[in-house]
Amino acid sequence: MDLQLLHYDSLESTNSEAAKLAREGASDGVCVVVDEQTAGRGRQGREWISTKGSGVYMSLILRPRVDPRGLTLIPLIAAIAVHQVLLYVLTIEADIKWPNDILVNEKKICGILCEAVDTPSGMAVVVGIGINMSAASVDNATSIQEESQTPTNRDYLVRTIFTQIDRRLGLLNGETAQIIDDWSRRSSYAFDKEVSVDLGNEVFAGTTCGLDENG
Ligand code: BTN
Repeated sequence: MDLQLLHYDSLESTNSEAAKLAREGASDGVCVVVDEQTAGRGRQGREWISTKGSGVYMSLILRPRVDPRGLTLIPLIAAIAVHQVLLYVLTIEADIKWPNDILVNEKKICGILCEAVDTPSGMAVVVGIGINMSAASVDNATSIQEESQTPTNRDYLVRTIFTQIDRRLGLLNGETAQIIDDWSRRSSYAFDKEVSVDLGNEVFAGTTCGLDENG
């Protein structure tokens, strides 16, 4: 897959723009990158604050040719990719909270929103990634600026994250156990963690015992 970066100054949401482009026929590898989002979206209908120039706001279009059951592993692949880039490029030791929040010392540095999109040429997946680059104004959040001394720039991070996602997509065809293992090694939440799960209408508590094969 070749990366094709599309830069914008301002958009409501890179995920919405990438979904629109996918419906219009954009190929996989197209990646929307923006300086600011005016209506950045998080999981479960939450807002993702996206102030100008203070974060990575990117959405990558994928057209995975895999069994639909493998699609649940794409968010895990995205989390592994970001985790790897934070460690190797910025020496930030992060943690992954299921399914794909990236935390440093329990504070969120990155969120990932993967959305399936029906398009005339088949289903696409938009992988939306938001990374705080400069001091976050949100409670319980942190940023690259606060966690690393290493200078970097946004487009370098986008390219390296893309490379890390791309090199793992092949695992969706038959080697999914490797994705689960890789995710689990990077997450303190994978095993023996006391957690509470909020399903909206129901909250329950338990101890984690690893991911099943669907992640
Ligand atoms: C979450 O943790 O709730 C997920 C946050 C995802 C934010 C990113 S920023 C780029 C892309 N565009 C969006 O509107 N959302 C994602």
